Amino acid sequence: MAVKLEGIKACVFDAYGTLLNVHAPVAQLSSRIGKDADAVSKLWRQKQLEYTWLRSLMKAYVPFWQITGDALDYTLEAFSIEDQALRDDLMELYLHLAAYDDAVACLKVLKELGVATAILSNGSPDMLDAAVKSSGLDAYLDENISVADVGIFKPDPQVYQQAVDRMGVAERSEICFVSANTWDAQASKSFGFQVARINRFGLKDDRIPGTPDMLLESLEELPGVVR
Ligand code: 2OP
Repeated sequence: MAVKLEGIKACVFDAYGTLLNVHAPVAQLSSRIGKDADAVSKLWRQKQLEYTWLRSLMKAYVPFWQITGDALDYTLEAFSIEDQALRDDLMELYLHLAAYDDAVACLKVLKELGVATAILSNGSPDMLDAAVKSSGLDAYLDENISVADVGIFKPDPQVYQQAVDRMGVAERSEICFVSANTWDAQASKSFGFQVARINRFGLKDDRIPGTPDMLLESLEELPGVVR
């Protein structure tokens, strides 16, 4: 594991699960969901990601907002929950996800240090705009990059190439990419970024190519390891 990431010109962050707490909507409405609330949130996230991977392979791209709704519909049916008001409220909360506390602190310091910052996410542009504004992250982000521009989801290399193009770096290794999603962190390392995985969920690396350069327990560690 590295202790410093050298030659970094920009820090680029995954959004959902990394900067934004995807499990907050169900947690906020858990009293209306009951004992299955944790399992509902986990299945919703699992299906959301599965649908991005399947649709990329099927060459059947639709905006992440539709995928998020489709995944929620699958999940509510799986738990025999028929409640349109609950569904609508969960989707509304998803549009305005809270940022993790360490995310705001990290981005604030990076900007004070003059480091270029960006989001690179599966999120649709409208979702990302709403989320960064409601979470206050927009004050500390130079770019907000959505896969919508290339019409395919992570971990397709075209997605990661967008960050190279938009941040205007000469080398892929000049970007520090940060994600809590193991497959995203590993695929971006394979692409050529320097990578810090944030250990939000106590996960081990997946058995796929790419090993992150470092594992962080808090994003507040990041400014001290990039230079
Ligand atoms: C994101 O792209 C992987 O869902 C995660 O924000």
